[in-house]
Amino acid sequence: MQPTSIHDNVREHYAERARNAASCCGSNTLYDDRLLQDLPSDISSFSLGCGNPITTAALKPGETVLDLGSGGGLDCFLAAKAVGETGRVIGVDMTPDMLAKARGNAQRLGYPNVEFREGYLEALPVDDATVDVIISNCVINLSPDKPQVFREIARVLKPNGRVAVSDIVTNGELPEAVQQSMAAWGACVAGALTVQAYARGLLEAGLVDVRVQPKDTTDKWLAALPIGVPFSATITARKPRADEQPTGEMPAGVEFETVGALTIDGLDDLIGRVVDMDSIEGGYDLRLAGDVAEMRAKVAELQRAAGCCSPLKFVLVEAADGAHLRVTNLSASAFVSIDSLN
Ligand SMILES: C[S@@+](CC[C@H](N)C(=O)[O-])C[C@H]1O[C@@H](n2cnc3c(N)ncnc32)[C@H](O)[C@@H]1O
Repeated sequence: MQPTSIHDNVREHYAERARNAASCCGSNTLYDDRLLQDLPSDISSFSLGCGNPITTAALKPGETVLDLGSGGGLDCFLAAKAVGETGRVIGVDMTPDMLAKARGNAQRLGYPNVEFREGYLEALPVDDATVDVIISNCVINLSPDKPQVFREIARVLKPNGRVAVSDIVTNGELPEAVQQSMAAWGACVAGALTVQAYARGLLEAGLVDVRVQPKDTTDKWLAALPIGVPFSATITARKPRADEQPTGEMPAGVEFETVGALTIDGLDDLIGRVVDMDSIEGGYDLRLAGDVAEMRAKVAELQRAAGCCSPLKFVLVEAADGAHLRVTNLSASAFVSIDSLN
């Protein structure tokens, strides 16, 4: 396979992340603490993912798992525990610095059932029909040829094998300037597919039971987003059994209103769930509907609910078309300023 300039740029971006790992990490909030408790903190905190494909995958002892874009190896180590000594886990990554880090971690942990292979998602170094479960965490969006990645997924899965992926998707086409930005590509934004394109791509590769859902399952506030913003999603699918015909049927998609607005009720809902808002991948600009003074008080309440040390910042902005709630996640790796999206 001939790597493209996107591969080269993305590789350089993640080589840098692997080399500077020691200074990058705080605690890992993507997973339940109980999942991580047996791992050394430098391994459990080194995640560049956007979700938790391990819980979605519901792995069983004896299964063979393939992790696409395995990075420092965290999901592989969690999968290795779940499938036990009768199962095996293969991590594939194209970045030698990441592979070195993952292999070093594996050696320290002494897991006998994990291996890391150098390779591309678009040409997986894995035999046909040998994998029970494919997992991946915030990687497929980085590929310049997603239809080929989806075909490779279908090739290496066993019949009835399943897909459990966390990835960044969008609720509409990203602005052209964002799509062309290499920095935004490396940050898991520019290459993100729309929910519908993701589902269509998996179906066209011959998979069934395709679901693409926001990680945060309540879409009350997603409905108020402007079109063309990235967010974390959980993606599941299955390869048909040998005796089963793929239907090619589009799943009931996540529908977004073109112009929605958050009401006081919606703000109350956000206050109750502010701790779950880590799926925000940068900044969102939510339109508000209602009395501005009342809204301003609610926004202040929202900031208090987040707590003083939260990376989430909530500001009420009065624009020509009315009040907006501007939400910024200062710790998000995939920050896209609202101005660049407008
Ligand atoms: C955002 S990081 C995620 C790493 C890991 N899954 C995690 O959750 O920490 C993306 C990883 O995918 C790898 N990657 C990106 N595009 C790839 C491609 N086309 N083929 C193989 N690996 C790729 C990068 O080298 C990097 O290690």
